[in-house]
Amino acid sequence: MKSHPFYPSLLTLNRKNEGLKVLDLGCCFGADLRKLIIDGFSGENLTGLDISADFIQLGQELFKDEETSGLKFVVADILSDEWPEKVAGLQFDVIYLGSFLHLFDRPQQETILRRVSQLLKENGVLFGKNLGSGGVESTVDLKVGQVFLCTPDLFAKNLSSLGFGDIDVVAVPKEQLEDFQGGDPVGLDHPFLIYTAVKNGNPESQRNEPIAKTESSHPWPSPHHASSSIN
Ligand SMILES: C[S@@+](CC[C@H](N)C(=O)[O-])C[C@H]1O[C@@H](n2cnc3c(N)ncnc32)[C@H](O)[C@@H]1O
Repeated sequence: MKSHPFYPSLLTLNRKNEGLKVLDLGCCFGADLRKLIIDGFSGENLTGLDISADFIQLGQELFKDEETSGLKFVVADILSDEWPEKVAGLQFDVIYLGSFLHLFDRPQQETILRRVSQLLKENGVLFGKNLGSGGVESTVDLKVGQVFLCTPDLFAKNLSSLGFGDIDVVAVPKEQLEDFQGGDPVGLDHPFLIYTAVKNGNPESQRNEPIAKTESSHPWPSPHHASSSIN
């Protein structure tokens, strides 16, 4: 999360808006949430959600902060029928999807984005990153099963059809990512989609483009729209 171009704006937003509520969806151990606390967030305003209770518990054992962090955790499967009751009453200003969408096929990704949108407040910001395609969209076999790799263009269209605006999505070659650690589970050469979008943001404002591997200028989306959307 900390390497995402929206991250500095998120910290600024938190300084300006006491009580900014953030959800890390697919939080795993919750390391990104602990980093947000180090960077000035109050744990009470942060929620981690994961399908795995074990991951959440392992995080609490690892960080030894269950009594002190204030963090909230929800165990839920975003694709399950029980989802509405698991998240009943929850609303967030910002939702992060880190290395999450690329675990799913196309219909599942559409369901997830719709459910994410329902959890966001008006003008709330969605930001995230996941494997995608710089060329044509495709379904590929990864260890987790058949997954859909979306292009920036199609991803922006999907977000737009859900009512998002101020959409910034680019495909960035993995080796340009600050936290890229080499290789991926199946050795496939796919870029990451890196994006921000604002619920009910400006539908006219949209940038979605693949970035050439040789491009040396700063390739990531400018988060200026998203950072000015929450008052
Ligand atoms: C690849 S990890 C990403 C962890 C972290 N967000 C990151 O950026 O490193 C994906 C996480 O999504 C969780 N997950 C997978 N399917 C899920 C589902 N249907 N609902 C909620 N969480 C799910 C997994 O348990 C795992 O912790």
